[in-house]
Amino acid sequence: MTLLSVENLEIEFATDEGVIRAVDGVSFHIGPGEVLGLVGESGCGKSVTALGLTRLIPSPPGRIVSGTVDFEGRNLLKLSVRDLRNVRGNEISMIFQEPLSALSPLHRIGRQLTEAIFFHRRMSKKEAWQYAQSWLNKVGIPDAPARMHAYPFQLSGGMQQRVMIAMALMLAPKLIIADEPTTALDVTTQAQIFDLIRAMRQNHTALLLITHDMGVVWEMCDRVIVMYASRIVESGSLEDVFDSPAHPYTRGLMAAIPKLAAGRNYLTDIPGQVPSPMNYPAGCRFQDRCPKVFDRCRLEDPFLVECGKEHMAACFLVYPDKEA
Ligand SMILES: Nc1ncnc2c1ncn2[C@@H]1O[C@H](COP(=O)(O)OP(=O)(O)OP(=O)(O)O)[C@@H](O)[C@H]1O
Ligand SMILES: [Mg+2]
Repeated sequence: MTLLSVENLEIEFATDEGVIRAVDGVSFHIGPGEVLGLVGESGCGKSVTALGLTRLIPSPPGRIVSGTVDFEGRNLLKLSVRDLRNVRGNEISMIFQEPLSALSPLHRIGRQLTEAIFFHRRMSKKEAWQYAQSWLNKVGIPDAPARMHAYPFQLSGGMQQRVMIAMALMLAPKLIIADEPTTALDVTTQAQIFDLIRAMRQNHTALLLITHDMGVVWEMCDRVIVMYASRIVESGSLEDVFDSPAHPYTRGLMAAIPKLAAGRNYLTDIPGQVPSPMNYPAGCRFQDRCPKVFDRCRLEDPFLVECGKEHMAACFLVYPDKEA
């Protein structure tokens, strides 16, 4: 069964230097209660993909060029603004890296939470207040009654993040999109936040988890998609992708993992750089960094092919007619 199904999503930005295609034909799906990891280096299009799903791309300069985002039978890219607002926060909620992008600096925490409740639920003021406060408790915010009266800036970064997570979880959405939810936090707080996210799986909430950190993917996810240069280059179950990564890029990401132990969370260990979306090369976009590159990679563009059961990779090495 599928909760969310994305087909051929294409998103562009008009910049001074020209149009860039930040998301270029991305397709994937998430089942109810499933945790899907989305990984890839900086700039490859992860956040733009996530924002595109509920049409949160700033426009201009951004534009969703084509695609469908089917959420329980509704194409979110075609939904009226009113219906879409109802989906956001209520059925799909988002957790960002930067909590202050989701919280208003001008209003007290209690007011922000209760307003979100009123928007989607029929509750008395008192009930909503109690309900919001109980969620601050659940996400581990000490002295919740007092915090309800605080402004976001009066809380630490970790506490702000917890408030945003309470906001994302309290309406029991069917899907949570979490974009680097813990990158800005210390290791202890990170672990606590992941415990919270894990606990919510009991409600059968699905999660799209965006991260640079393959260690986090391993701990949290059921399936993985790997993005490189605006496209998906590999997708599969956690076991398939970790035990037999098919794309040399994924293998490069894996090779970076042992370094995690030394406290290096960022995947900067593949030699070379992600090409600029302004001038992607013809052929495979990973060609200039690929240890396995051969002639065909510079001439033809590899599309995703099956290389195992529900395991896909966009690499000529896994093509049935490969000639390396
Ligand atoms: N508002 C914008 N205007 C112009 N270009 C943008 C805008 N937002 C994103 N982009 C471009 O889209 C591309 C993809 O960006 P995106 O933020 O999705 O990367 P990412 O994979 O999330 O990276 P990171 O890991 O650093 O968060 C980048 O080239 C980026 O510069
Ligand atoms: Mg991002």
